Amino acid sequence: MASTQTKVAVITGSAQGIGRAIALRLAADGFSIALNDLESHRSKLEAVAEEIKKTTGRDTVISIGDVSKETDVQALVDAAVNSLGGVDVMVANAGICPAIPFIDSKLIVRLLAVLVLIALKCSDCGRI
Ligand SMILES: NC(=O)c1ccc[n+]([C@@H]2O[C@H](COP(=O)([O-])OP(=O)(O)OC[C@H]3O[C@@H](n4cnc5c(N)ncnc54)[C@H](O)[C@@H]3O)[C@@H](O)[C@H]2O)c1
Repeated sequence: MASTQTKVAVITGSAQGIGRAIALRLAADGFSIALNDLESHRSKLEAVAEEIKKTTGRDTVISIGDVSKETDVQALVDAAVNSLGGVDVMVANAGICPAIPFIDSKLIVRLLAVLVLIALKCSDCGRI
């Protein structure tokens, strides 16, 4: 369990790209970090946790899950609370940006569902 003085940041989609960069930066700024990404990105997420530990010594916890699903968001928040002591900042970074035909309504519904649901489901958990 982290010190109660240590702030905790949750970053969704943090195995790569912008989410990974935010996680490394917030760890360098002194936050404990709850990392999340899809199962397919588990090894990349573990590498980010290792890098945070090595470069900053900060505590991390990994919660694999799809943050467009409420149960997976709850599991992520529970992991942050139980392992790191709370949630001070929630970075709803996870998202998809596929190049899709504009008239493909099924894909557009899936895209909007992921982006809107992620923002909504994470919004109860802290400052986005
Ligand atoms: N890179 C850009 O130019 C740009 C521009 C505008 C918006 N964005 C948005 O910024 C965010 C990060 O962009 P990026 O370039 O680092 O993207 P990226 O694809 O490199 O990384 C996104 C990460 O989110 C994860 N992810 C996707 N859906 C998820 C889900 N449902 N649950 C958990 N994890 C999930 C992916 O596995 C991936 O690791 C995305 O939301 C993207 O749409 C990026």
